[in-house]
Amino acid sequence: MTRVFSGVKPTGHLTLGNYLGAMRQWAEVDQHRSDAVFCVVDLHGMTVDHDPARLRRLTRQTATLLLAAGLDPRLCTVFVQSHVDEHARLSYVLECVATDGEMRRMIQYKEKAARERERGGSVRLSLLTYPVLMAADILAYGAGEVPVGDDQAQHVELARDLAVRFNQRYGHTFVVPRATLPTVAARVMNLQEPASKMGKSDDSGPGIVYLLDEPDAVRKKVMRAVTDSAGEVVYDRAGRPGVTNLLEILAACTGADPERLSADYSSYGALKKDTADAVVDVLRPLQERHRALCADPAYVDGVLREGAARARGMARPTVDAAYRAIGLLPAV
Ligand code: TYM
Repeated sequence: MTRVFSGVKPTGHLTLGNYLGAMRQWAEVDQHRSDAVFCVVDLHGMTVDHDPARLRRLTRQTATLLLAAGLDPRLCTVFVQSHVDEHARLSYVLECVATDGEMRRMIQYKEKAARERERGGSVRLSLLTYPVLMAADILAYGAGEVPVGDDQAQHVELARDLAVRFNQRYGHTFVVPRATLPTVAARVMNLQEPASKMGKSDDSGPGIVYLLDEPDAVRKKVMRAVTDSAGEVVYDRAGRPGVTNLLEILAACTGADPERLSADYSSYGALKKDTADAVVDVLRPLQERHRALCADPAYVDGVLREGAARARGMARPTVDAAYRAIGLLPAV
């Protein structure tokens, strides 16, 4: 069975973008058809200025939301990255295979480093090496498929390159992974700035639908989404990003085709209303499960404890093999 691996960073409250671009696919498809492993990647949450107490809180909240979104520990493995040492162990080995030029070319590094410098801060070294740790996450589990949103495709490509390079130099050790993107909503845009991704670490609240937003807040945000003055509902990502984003969200929530949907609407108001209703409907069961899970913290602890134990068992043989292949003397 194909091994699937994916992760989510606990750096903010999860958004509709995280759900439609990744988590929904994990819950509805991946866990049923593959040996799937999902990780709250807390080590990745320390690559920019962070508050320790907030990181800890968000790690738990993110894990709870993964379960609320429908991940079922009887079908898949759910755990926290820092609970499994293999990620950090393998990351260092892969740093000895990657180059600094490769790291500096990563779009997310360039954007985030520029933002840190604009704020007058310094750039943590871990921001530069972030994609190597991400490659370690994927390669440690022998994952063939990595279901992600569009913004992570370049990082998965790097994981591929590192796997191929390691295998060529030191002998076949890693499965070569590939990214699998959803056909609709692979890049959900900010409702207020439809040229930018809807990101959980951003500050612009009114443009971001959070998974735990109340129905009224969701409706307000969607009804106030920025569109354009053309007045005609047309699917055109480059020319009409605001309207196209709404069509993508509505299509993803209802299982329709976004281009075909555009023919059903003659006004932005009707499109926004249906989109708001569809988002509220999609979030309702998730929010109900979230409430129930918050009332049972011992259950979430148990899932994470068992998930980490299972994950260690999967990752250790591959990471040990990589240590041997690259020339490290096994401990006796
Ligand atoms: P993260 O935490 O930013 O996002 C988690 C998942 O949600 C997707 N996503 C989106 N999809 C569509 N539209 C959006 N606006 C949107 N925003 C986020 C992301 O593409 C991602 O699939 N580096 C990763 C975490 C990671 C990881 C891994 C992923 C660490 N190690 C190994 C896969 C495999 C990240 O920051 O995702």
